[in-house]
Amino acid sequence: MTEHVTIFETGPRDGLQNEARLIPAVQKARLVDLLSECGLKKIEVTSFVSPQWVPQLADAAEVMAAIRRKLETRYTALIPNLKGLAAALAAGADEVAVFASASEGFSRQNINCSVSESLARFEPVLAAASERGTPVRGYVSCITACPFDGEIAPAQVARVAERLLAMGCYQVSLGDTLGAATPRRVEQLLVELLERAPAARFAGHFHDTRGRALDNIKVCLDKGLRVFDAAIGGLGGCPYAPGARGNVATESVVRMLDRLGYENGIDRQKLSTAARFARQIRRQP
Ligand code: HMG
Ligand code: MG
Repeated sequence: MTEHVTIFETGPRDGLQNEARLIPAVQKARLVDLLSECGLKKIEVTSFVSPQWVPQLADAAEVMAAIRRKLETRYTALIPNLKGLAAALAAGADEVAVFASASEGFSRQNINCSVSESLARFEPVLAAASERGTPVRGYVSCITACPFDGEIAPAQVARVAERLLAMGCYQVSLGDTLGAATPRRVEQLLVELLERAPAARFAGHFHDTRGRALDNIKVCLDKGLRVFDAAIGGLGGCPYAPGARGNVATESVVRMLDRLGYENGIDRQKLSTAARFARQIRRQP
């Protein structure tokens, strides 16, 4: 039987958050609509974070209101706290994601608090989302390296991932924020994580700074992971992780999955159209 792999499209959020020039909400919504047409079942549309911290996504509610939803697609949003949850739900997010870091340095720079403070902040978010029946995903950033603290040990990642799962995240996405991971480091990490939870509870989120993202995804596939985050056109980076480049390009992941025989339900021709549009809105003066 052919195995299915789900692509979690993060381009409109992780990709666009890093663009210096403000992109009009209507173009962001158009990108999401083109992605919906491709057969993607999960699209992270935007984030409801402080507009002082990420001005590019200050139009989150406007974008959510402008997208044309497909019944079979879940439209998700990144949130850092209860204020973000309330705004995301009011805007009609089907699902939300909280984000923690395995490293103290990145946690401070990105969300202005320690790792344990961030986890404590997420507890009421998970409780409130659960009351509403809204699924919550968790991210752990800096799974092998942090731009401020250097190398990160697997045990640091496991501690945060376990907490996120214990508080009710249905899945933890493993963020190689810097794109510094290598297949050997990813394998070591997965050995540690899979002793604690099954592969179905994890997703891979690889930035492609050093061109190793596809190799890292391959290791994850071999270890049983079946969900991968990717960004159309390889858009992105993180404004609070100096040196980080874009996520692995969705079209490259789909090409590899097709070659390896994993069913993914994505129309490659429509994906090319979306990738062209993503590059075009990025190039505009
Ligand atoms: P803070 O300054 O400590 O927050 O920032 P605060 O609670 O003291 O509030 C300060 C002001 O922000 C207040 O407004 C709040 O109302 C407002 P004021 O009273 O001054 O007018 N505020 C908000 N406004 C809108 N929406 C909200 C919200 N929360 C507070 N949700 C905070 C703390 C977490 C808010 C801030 O640091 C923040 O927003 N950080 C987000 C940074 C970010 O989005 N980074 C990129 C995403 S993470 C990433 O890309 C990694 C990932 O892709 C995985 C990987 O690659 O590893 C996920
Ligand atoms: Mg990211």
